[in-house]
Amino acid sequence: MRLKGKTALITGGTLGIGKAIALKFAQEGAKVAILDLEVNEEWMQSYKGEMMGIVCDVQYKSQVDAAIAQVTETFGHIDIAVINAGICELTPFLDITEEAWERHIAINLKGAFLVGQAVAKQMVESGVHGSIIHMSSVNGMRAENTQAHYNASKGGLNLLAMSMAVELASHHIRVNALCPGFIATRLTQAEIDNEAGIKEYLKTIPMKRVGLPEEIADAAVFMASDESRYMTGHCLVIDGGQLIKLA
Ligand SMILES: NC(=O)c1ccc[n+]([C@@H]2O[C@H](COP(=O)([O-])OP(=O)(O)OC[C@H]3O[C@@H](n4cnc5c(N)ncnc54)[C@H](O)[C@@H]3O)[C@@H](O)[C@H]2O)c1
Repeated sequence: MRLKGKTALITGGTLGIGKAIALKFAQEGAKVAILDLEVNEEWMQSYKGEMMGIVCDVQYKSQVDAAIAQVTETFGHIDIAVINAGICELTPFLDITEEAWERHIAINLKGAFLVGQAVAKQMVESGVHGSIIHMSSVNGMRAENTQAHYNASKGGLNLLAMSMAVELASHHIRVNALCPGFIATRLTQAEIDNEAGIKEYLKTIPMKRVGLPEEIADAAVFMASDESRYMTGHCLVIDGGQLIKLA
């Protein structure tokens, strides 16, 4: 049990990568609070007492602050935060609307700032030596077609993680980012269902397969635990080799 006695907050933990992290953290002994747009999932019932769900839209400070207050009231403090809630719409650059741009920045980047700052304040107040993990993407490091708003939000997120790492080190708080490649979730289901498209896409991945949410969860346990105690400000790529491939 690598997270025994720890309390963790995970945004966007109802589905996909966040759900896999919530389950893995619980298996490793952590108490888990999920903040999401919807939290009435049946699978959470079997973790009664160990897992709580709070409805929260991360783009609104009032909702974030209220949710974090509820978590600390219930669990006492927060040791680990995985800031994972995010959206990605595929749209050619010339067609991206102002609303779509603002939506991506508000959820993926501003939401990460709001949650990150509120959690960090809570950690400093309670003297916790915490670990904060941002869910970034390989798209924060390289530009992919039809995702300019998403790419920009994740690029900003990597610098947010580094900035927080620099300023929070003196408070014994580590801040890192995970940068997954193509992972099978609701977010990517339409692309996976496109048989011809996915066959072509897999050619860009040296390991020739998509990743699984559980493979990101394993990295999250490492980042959350003392095993990564001298790591901060790091962007860890988990992508089957996609980013290092020249052609
Ligand atoms: N799937 C991939 O290939 C992939 C690759 C790299 C990075 N990521 C990142 O991983 C994270 C999770 O993605 P996923 O693939 O699991 O997606 P998903 O759509 O399966 O799950 C996203 C979760 O976030 C929640 N959410 C969305 N907007 C929210 C908001 N405003 N407030 C609170 N919760 C909100 C959703 O309700 C959902 O539970 C995202 O930040 C995404 O950018 C995903």
